[in-house]
Amino acid sequence: MQTALRTSLPETELASRANFAPHARVVREERPAQTIGLPLSISGLRKSFGDNEVLRGIDLHIPAGQFVAIVGKSGCGKSTLLRLIAGLDKIDSGSISFGDEVRTEDIRVMFQEPRLLPWARVLSNVEVGLGRDRASKDAHARAEKALTEVGLADKRDQWPSVLSGGQKQRVALGRALVSRPRVLAFDEPLGALDALTRISMQRLLERVWRDQGFTAILVTHDVAEAVALADRVLVIDEGRIAHDVVVNTARPRERGSAELAALEGSILSHLLSADDRT
Ligand SMILES: Nc1ncnc2c1ncn2[C@@H]1O[C@H](COP(=O)(O)OP(=O)(O)O)[C@@H](O)[C@H]1O
Ligand SMILES: [Mg+2]
Repeated sequence: MQTALRTSLPETELASRANFAPHARVVREERPAQTIGLPLSISGLRKSFGDNEVLRGIDLHIPAGQFVAIVGKSGCGKSTLLRLIAGLDKIDSGSISFGDEVRTEDIRVMFQEPRLLPWARVLSNVEVGLGRDRASKDAHARAEKALTEVGLADKRDQWPSVLSGGQKQRVALGRALVSRPRVLAFDEPLGALDALTRISMQRLLERVWRDQGFTAILVTHDVAEAVALADRVLVIDEGRIAHDVVVNTARPRERGSAELAALEGSILSHLLSADDRT
């Protein structure tokens, strides 16, 4: 079902075609192989900073294309785990493997701060995400496409300084998407946004994930956001995965539904019981 949903069609068109199996089949066959997410296996992963044992044995398998959220109290090692997955820091022991050989462009991270280059216009900021391919002939076209995907095609010639906080994060998302990553990791990407902008960004994240099929790993402190977006929520506590909660709720999800609220409540109680011990 999820494979069928991850097409390049806009949501409305997808809904209107939902009953036409032949269309669905054609669309699936047209999907370029490189847009498909990578699976991720982590085994016995440990990481310390001096005496501070942050990750004490993480074992985890994420199937290709899954949307996983990671929650846990501040300082429990969420960002550390993400940095290790993205290859931004070295593991002490254990292993992290993707079911395939990975290029740097295959794995991207988006942070809470948009980290845009102030001296470069919006389109150039997106092109930065192409890495080595930035010099290629289709760099402009690819960046324009990514900007369109995040709804900012009309801002291509603007300077970052004139954009709102939400727009800057959209540019950062465009920069992350432009290389067609196979794994996209988000470290509290919406934490600095106001409530309404946050909800519209959550919808955008879900849409691009569905359209492109990358494996998504979202660190968030917002449990409601985790259950709204993810297939699965991991709770990290004392350096390990303390809870692994499946979110089966069908998409599109109704925010504030009783089902999601119940899941959110149960995950929050795990987090609070972890907090009581400290
Ligand atoms: N580069 C570093 N050097 C030393 N300590 C670090 C470093 N990065 C993270 N830590 C420590 O590791 C722990 C986990 O940090 P972090 O992964 O950022 O937590 P979280 O993202 O869950 O809030 C914290 O105690 C933090 O101080
Ligand atoms: Mg963090």
